Amino acid sequence: MVKRAFFVTFEGIDGSGKSTQARLLADRLRELGLDVVLTREPGGSPGAEEIRRLLVQGAPHRWSPETEILLFTAARRDHLENTIDPALAAGKIVISDRYADSTRVYQGVARADLGGLVDQLHHLMIAREPDLTLVIDMDPAQALERGLGRNSGEDRFEDFGLGFQQALRQGFLALARRAAPRTVLIDGNRTPEVIAAEIAGIFDRATK
Ligand code: TMP
Repeated sequence: MVKRAFFVTFEGIDGSGKSTQARLLADRLRELGLDVVLTREPGGSPGAEEIRRLLVQGAPHRWSPETEILLFTAARRDHLENTIDPALAAGKIVISDRYADSTRVYQGVARADLGGLVDQLHHLMIAREPDLTLVIDMDPAQALERGLGRNSGEDRFEDFGLGFQQALRQGFLALARRAAPRTVLIDGNRTPEVIAAEIAGIFDRATK
């Protein structure tokens, strides 16, 4: 079990259950006495939470894909400077509900074909990859129903509709293959307990 800094991220389409899994992993590691910072994107620091509101609320086409890339990257830079890097420097485990892979798939594949731009900006302004990324795969129709059923007021991306969610799913599947072994694909169409047990095993092996 880890006693050193470790950076793990959860990725997947809206409603895939990744936030639940991020929380369950954090709970388990805390019970084991480890120092865990559970955070999220967009957000995770006061400045980035302000930028989050601009991104997840309002009409779907309020921002162009290019402007979105800049806003998500600005939020990520603030999150990195104020939350992620200080926690890792202090030897903590950082668990983030979404990170750079979300920009690669949402802005780089599903919103527009801008993967090159996303990669360049990441290289210039972020340049930190997680140690481990769990990509939760889920049926898009079921996930969309779950996501919109929450009535969170943060549905700007869900409002792009089912075709968008299907493009996202394909984007995450391709990314999970491309970025392995950092990325591990998880079947999200099972109970939260079963999924959490699989993730616990993967985490323990990755940090041995
Ligand atoms: P959340 O619902 O998981 O908190 O994420 C908010 C929305 O922002 C979600 O629909 C995914 C989207 N998003 C992007 O489009 N690009 C990104 O880089 C991130 C981090 C999130």
